[in-house]
Amino acid sequence: MGDVMNEASRYHEVYGAWRSDPEGFWREAAKAIDWIRPPDRIFDPGAGLYGRWFPDATCNTCYNAVDRHADGGRGEQPAVIYDSPVTGTKATITYAELKREVAALGAVLTGMGIVRGDRVIIYMPMIPEALFAMLACARIGAIHSVVFGGFAAKELATRIDDATPKAILAASCGIEGAKLVPYKPLLDGAIELSAHKPECCLVFQRPQLAAAMTEGRDHDWASAVSAAKAEGRAAPCAEMKATDPLYVLYTSGTTGKPKGVVRDNGGHMVALHWSMANLYGISPGEVFWAASDVGWVVGHSYIVYAPLLKGATTVLYEGKPVGTPDPGAYWRVIAEHKVAALFTAPTAFRAIRKEDPEARFLERGTLSHFRTLFLAGERADPDTVKWAEEILGRPVIDHWWQTETGWCIVGNPVGLGMLPVRHGSPTVPMPGYAIEVVDEAGKPVPAGKMGSIVVRLPLPPGAFPTLWQADERFREAYLADFPGCYKTADAGYVDADGYVYIMGRTDDIINVAGHRLSTGGMEEVLASHPAVAECAVIGMADALKGEAPCGFVVLKSGVTQSAAEVEKELVQLVRDKIGPVAAFKLAVTVARLPKTRSGKILRGTMKKIADGDEWSTPATIDDPAILDEIAGALKAKGIGA
Ligand code: COA
Ligand code: AMP
Repeated sequence: MGDVMNEASRYHEVYGAWRSDPEGFWREAAKAIDWIRPPDRIFDPGAGLYGRWFPDATCNTCYNAVDRHADGGRGEQPAVIYDSPVTGTKATITYAELKREVAALGAVLTGMGIVRGDRVIIYMPMIPEALFAMLACARIGAIHSVVFGGFAAKELATRIDDATPKAILAASCGIEGAKLVPYKPLLDGAIELSAHKPECCLVFQRPQLAAAMTEGRDHDWASAVSAAKAEGRAAPCAEMKATDPLYVLYTSGTTGKPKGVVRDNGGHMVALHWSMANLYGISPGEVFWAASDVGWVVGHSYIVYAPLLKGATTVLYEGKPVGTPDPGAYWRVIAEHKVAALFTAPTAFRAIRKEDPEARFLERGTLSHFRTLFLAGERADPDTVKWAEEILGRPVIDHWWQTETGWCIVGNPVGLGMLPVRHGSPTVPMPGYAIEVVDEAGKPVPAGKMGSIVVRLPLPPGAFPTLWQADERFREAYLADFPGCYKTADAGYVDADGYVYIMGRTDDIINVAGHRLSTGGMEEVLASHPAVAECAVIGMADALKGEAPCGFVVLKSGVTQSAAEVEKELVQLVRDKIGPVAAFKLAVTVARLPKTRSGKILRGTMKKIADGDEWSTPATIDDPAILDEIAGALKAKGIGA
């Protein structure tokens, strides 16, 4: 790999230090954590699927995120700033208050019979109770699994069956812009659908909508917590092995069955803590805002755990970049809460730009505390990055990572001294990640040449050790194709100066408004419609959301319903089965799907046609005329060139 020059940055020295002594590097980083039993051994290459970090250490993540600040001089410092334009509410929660809330909720969970190692599903919107729930689980050693509120009952049911939780923690509703989303009917529907039944549910009744409670199963959150407080019940922090799971977070795989990404306690704390200072340049006491959702990995790592581990203040924003109430919402939050760094997805900035291209809502001079904008979750298109740089007059840092890794793989380490930004590149690998770009045979390709991006094993602390109760699936999905390496399933290249460029996925995952979705999962839903004979879903380029799904369907012969009727039902079906977050709005009926002679559907060519890109007829195609039929069907819907 070539060299990225910036004399002022310590990046090279630090990355080099990691390369020459990885265990020494992480031993040093681990000193920032308060262990119960500090690690003697840093890495055990023989444990787990590719080794395990800090195998002999014990710790508690909640203690490090809450108690040590509450009891160590930061008790009166805000830990969480809740800002909710959708309810007109703002609240500040200090570290001392956070400790009281989390300890009381932990006691409630213990009272419900939840013990160390039990799974607890959390199905909640962006309210402080969602954070309390995650931290309370961490405190007592229960494994939380947060499910994003935009998923439908069936998706929730799949996760219930995989995680087999003893309890589910939920709120009565979410608020999406001006829309109230009742969560409880989705929860009840999911429990009805799932084979595994949780023993109990704890339901937080929001004032906007009261949920009906199921006798014997559902408990009222507020009264349970106030009883615990009145009785002085507070859960202690359990002693956990560093390698014990902290949480399971489901993410889209290549089929409808999501992958349960496991995160451990020790490595996770070490990596996130390291990242706050060195990557994001954040010191204790500063305000950090990740405008995401606790249902995604960005929310887990950078709304909840990392800022709190660092002793910073995290902003919990229940709103949108636009419409709550206007495209000035982000600027208001940054100014009002003195935010030092914002982390969001490029799509949020595309949304703001679309409504306010001149940035009239941005009052100059109000962002004096603001230093850096970080973008991740999808490709940061240079156009949007340039616009953001111009209006903010501050660095805009793209960085690349995945649910699986839990923190940044390739980024620009602002805390170590920023490297020169190159639009289109998230910059350079972080310590812990030895990146290679390889061809299909696993051989490294020269600089500038596209290939599959892999990470040489072991993955660093913080990255997933396995999938929940699915070691074999982990091996097959991530380790089998390129022996000795982790397959990221992203394609890209490294330029002569060592800058990494991420160009797209090598599998069927698409990225819609920064949300990771499986087209395979959507195809399973379309195929379940009785009128559908065959289908293919692709991700079309979308100016706002980056990508938008488009489903091509071939109807069975003898279907009497009109194509328009079936298409409407299909849109509804995906909404019902996967959820509104799939943003599936377009089904296109075609007579035939283009295939190779061996029967493989030519999704790539269909995507090019839909995107209006230049396309050529693949040599292996069965019948070239079908591509013109596809172009015609799209044209009839106003899509393509
Ligand atoms: N609960 C219930 N429904 C939800 C939801 C939630 N937590 N989150 C999203 N939805 C619904 C939306 O209301 C929308 O429903 P609709 O089809 O009835 O309009 C649908 O899911 C699609 O949501 P989304 O793709 O987010 O589109 P949007 O039009 O509501 O908003 C943006 C577009 C760009 C403003 C929005 O995606 C955004 O704020 N993105 C910021 C980036 C981000 O948070 N990324 C996460 C990873 S870092
Ligand atoms: P998720 O697991 O939801 O975080 O999604 C991870 C995927 O999003 C990656 O595999 C990439 O395909 C894409 N992605 C995330 N960040 C970036 C980025 N900065 N640039 C390009 N693609 C990204």
